[in-house]
Amino acid sequence: MCGIIGIIGKASVTPLLVDALKRLEYRGYDSAGVATLINGHIERRRAEGKLVNLEARLAQEPLAGTIGIGHTRWATHGKPSERNAHPIATDRVAIVHNGIIENFQELKDELEAEGRRFESDTDTEVVAQLLTSMLDRQMSPEQAMGKAMERLRGAFALVALFSGRHDILMGARRGSSLAVGYGDGEMYVGTDALALAPFTKRVSYLEDDDWVVLTATDCKVYQGHTEVKREIRQSGISGAMIGKGNHRHFMLKEIYEQPAVIGDTLQTYLDPATRAVTLPALPFDWAKVSRVTITACGTACFAGMVAKYWFEKLARLSVEVEVASELRYREPPLPEGGVCIAVSQSGETIDTLAALRYAKAQKQIIVSVVNVPESAIARESHVVLPTLAGPEIGVASTKAFTTQLTVLLTAAIAAGRARGTLTAADEARLAHALIELPAHVNETVNMEDQYRHIAEDILSEARDVLYIGRGSSFPVALEGALKLKEVSYIHAEGYAGGEMKHGPIALIDELVPVVVVAPTDSVFDKIASNFEQVKARGGKLILMTDAKGAARLGDQAIATIVLPAVDPVIAPILYTVPAQLLAYHTAVAKGTDVDQPRNLAKSVTVE
Ligand code: F6R
Repeated sequence: MCGIIGIIGKASVTPLLVDALKRLEYRGYDSAGVATLINGHIERRRAEGKLVNLEARLAQEPLAGTIGIGHTRWATHGKPSERNAHPIATDRVAIVHNGIIENFQELKDELEAEGRRFESDTDTEVVAQLLTSMLDRQMSPEQAMGKAMERLRGAFALVALFSGRHDILMGARRGSSLAVGYGDGEMYVGTDALALAPFTKRVSYLEDDDWVVLTATDCKVYQGHTEVKREIRQSGISGAMIGKGNHRHFMLKEIYEQPAVIGDTLQTYLDPATRAVTLPALPFDWAKVSRVTITACGTACFAGMVAKYWFEKLARLSVEVEVASELRYREPPLPEGGVCIAVSQSGETIDTLAALRYAKAQKQIIVSVVNVPESAIARESHVVLPTLAGPEIGVASTKAFTTQLTVLLTAAIAAGRARGTLTAADEARLAHALIELPAHVNETVNMEDQYRHIAEDILSEARDVLYIGRGSSFPVALEGALKLKEVSYIHAEGYAGGEMKHGPIALIDELVPVVVVAPTDSVFDKIASNFEQVKARGGKLILMTDAKGAARLGDQAIATIVLPAVDPVIAPILYTVPAQLLAYHTAVAKGTDVDQPRNLAKSVTVE
């Protein structure tokens, strides 16, 4: 949520700020803005809506300056408008901010009592006013920032530009990510390495409570009043990773990347020589684990639900899957000797982070499955199992989900081996199925015309769509429905097939398509019964199955997607891909904003 950037250097910064904001826009696109210093004065350009509106504004009113800050916003406090767009400024300081200042009301009351007038509805303005109040009391920017860190509560990353100070830019973080980039006579500070990628590969990641002072050639990092060192690392993110390539949308590009990124992830978790699953060294023994608690939000939580089936089946381990926003406040007892697995693409999701902290306080060993190894969730875990999906820019998660599944399956296999519940022959069979998976995903992605036709002729015309599945296909049905609703705005729900007759079947008529996720597995006959129940009530069925399933049910469906036959254990990974492509093509047919659907943002760093 919200992307921030600051640059101090030698060249005109506005084009560079806008360039960085383009790479950050996936984090929020309600409004955008930039501020620079011109003859010591803060000058801003801001615009409601997408970045193109800001670009149009800048074309009319260009902004010079060699030091500046920029922001792309997902509104929390204050509706999207130019008035609430960042940078938020007083005559002395301009701020860009990601996160939430929890004690903003208390600070606002205090600052208003001092006679300070607020101009926006944002929580961010208290930071600008607080710093201004301190500067007015003759503190230096450094003293003011150090002191402000003591007063601010909440999760935030911010960058500040001070009037009259062409020589410094300051940043601070607590909870939300912030990275410093080292250039040649130019320094950068921004939300992540992705934003900084074309400027520099030399990046250091700030830690919670760090605040920084950047000059054009250097950066000093402080914790409280003490200077600290943060390692400068070589970022592996390249320009190619952050473009759309030949694809029309990031979402499509990321769907097409799945064979490669699942392959890359497998290379890390499967020994190519022995074909044995190899996890990093773990500080616990699976054989002694009392229970696994998986916590995550949204799509990542559905990955956890699939993993529950795997851990239970392959390792005979008891697993609870908890939506992180519920776990953190419900505060359930977690058993001694338990493991908590936090699943997150961004590694920043605030609810998942809070649930992780709760589980840690309950003495659980924390394992995280994350796509951003420098993220807060990764840093606070005892063990990190990275997914190797590469940057995911499309707001709807695709390749992150299938790589999360890949990692979680290898973990379940390792647990099964350690617990003696999986024979060597079964492990070899699953390893073989996993090795073949990228090729099957490739074949599935390439059946694109089929998905387009179903999307154009059936789904895009529907007002409601149901997805059903049983066993480990149930979370795939949930994920298929989520993908469709978030990118096409069509109402969709996922159900366990057996639940249809307990209520949802009342919705069935010839206007409600039902997508049936039905690999030929141990519950195929059961889903076939649900299929027939829907058919008998005039439902329009779209079947996803393999050749065997198609031979049995295909003639009763209005459309059948025939997927490669795979081991039922890995089917959830493969069957997710057509669900993604159906959602994508439906969104394209409806003309929605596929990569930046309304009201959504990537990396949900607020509650
Ligand atoms: C849906 C989607 C979200 C995320 C959720 C968690 O397509 O992307 O539901 O899965 O916001 O985000 P991460 O995985 O970054 O914790």
